[in-house]
Amino acid sequence: MLHENLKPFPAGFLWGSASAAYQVEGAWDEDGKGPSNWDLFVRVSGKTFKGTTGDVAVDHYHRFKEDVRLMAEMGLKAYRFSVAWARIFPKGKGEVNEKGIEFYNHLINELVKNKIEPILTIYHWDLPQALQDEYGGWESRQIVEDFTNYAVTLYKHFGDRVKYWVSLNEQNIFTDLGYRMALHPPGVTNEKLFYQVNHHANLANASAIKEFRKYVPNGKIGPSFAYSPAYAASPKPEDILSAENAEEFNSHWWMDVYAWGEYPEAALSYLESKDLAPKIEAGDVDLLKAGKPDFMGVNYYQTTTYEHNPLNGVGQGTFNTTGKKGTSHDTGVPGIFKTIKNGNLERTNWDWNIDPVGLRIGLRRITSRYHLPILISENGLGEYDKLEAGDVVNDDYRIDYLKSHLSAVQEAITDGVEMLGYCTWSFTDLLSWLNGFQKRYGFVYVNQHEEGEHDLRRVKKKSYFWYKEVIEKNGENL
Ligand code: BG6
Repeated sequence: MLHENLKPFPAGFLWGSASAAYQVEGAWDEDGKGPSNWDLFVRVSGKTFKGTTGDVAVDHYHRFKEDVRLMAEMGLKAYRFSVAWARIFPKGKGEVNEKGIEFYNHLINELVKNKIEPILTIYHWDLPQALQDEYGGWESRQIVEDFTNYAVTLYKHFGDRVKYWVSLNEQNIFTDLGYRMALHPPGVTNEKLFYQVNHHANLANASAIKEFRKYVPNGKIGPSFAYSPAYAASPKPEDILSAENAEEFNSHWWMDVYAWGEYPEAALSYLESKDLAPKIEAGDVDLLKAGKPDFMGVNYYQTTTYEHNPLNGVGQGTFNTTGKKGTSHDTGVPGIFKTIKNGNLERTNWDWNIDPVGLRIGLRRITSRYHLPILISENGLGEYDKLEAGDVVNDDYRIDYLKSHLSAVQEAITDGVEMLGYCTWSFTDLLSWLNGFQKRYGFVYVNQHEEGEHDLRRVKKKSYFWYKEVIEKNGENL
């Protein structure tokens, strides 16, 4: 659809930006915090780019006031951050660490004081290691109770000031990389366990949302799903079926459960036939249906294009975690689908497709299927940035990326999609889990690198000033 006139962004649109505790905070063992799975994983040789850790990250724990001041100066309307579970419960459960509560109280108060809406993510991948050691973390149903207890603790302490909550960040990614690709903790490759772990995460998500209604009745909560809309490589029916398979296995498998409490039929019966389906116990479906979200959180970076993959076809490919263009390899599931490079799209240095139209397509698909409002909880460009003389960063490529994606959001709004807000990834530069500090996303450059000691000073990039103006004009200048 080509619109002659676009609808304006709604009043109260949350012009935001996002981060995650492990990627920004540092202070990994301060003030009573317990170790997380990531604190241990990064210490295993060869797991992260140049052995980077989040021990210091960008030191947000000590510099949060300066960071919030920069947000306020920009006019940011919302800041999405995550809570480190092991700061609140050093062992994942048991006694609350008051120092952890205090830190987030200070951060939230600082945001509120500056008229920035806090969006709190309950879980952004850093699991208390004690729970992994005790019962395998997400591998056990025990996690449902501990996660719910942790979430309720946050509701009780912060629910008076935090209205917007994200339950799980990218369940599809942390389980895939943790249990299929062994690239994230616990570094396992076990397809059956992957599906079981996901079922536990679904139950935990639903249980936390169910409890939310009691403690934060006027709040809004939803998961953040990493949605990569599927395209077919050609008009061949076999390729179109592969793209349908990809939507079913890579997206509906999660979003249907969030929105409806049900697994999609075709994927479930295929997994049953392969003895890979999760064990669903009595009462599980009732719980899943009782924990419906208020919105679908969407983390959008790219679309993926699929073609037919025969039964003896391509299997697991590889990721580009080096920033050397063209080093990723296509991936597939024999008999289901195979990814292929889409020649119509530019790619970043990490081989991520740049596709703003794909964002509009994704937003419309979610709206048509689930009829839920959408919060874009992440969207952004990870690139090399160059700090030039006089502390200047000319990141015009980031402005182009964000501008084209925001235009797609406005087109989607005009199409009828209900949008709550848009959070860029990220506000300051931060640690990329597997790519160190060289892959940068922020509006604010942080002088931090993989090697050596650095002063961590904050420098506003060109994109900082651009987004400031977009917010001021409520997107009218796009
Ligand atoms: C999302 C995560 O998957 O993508 C973020 O929620 C992450 O935590 C972001 O940093 C970008 O990924 P990467 O690998 O480029 O850092």
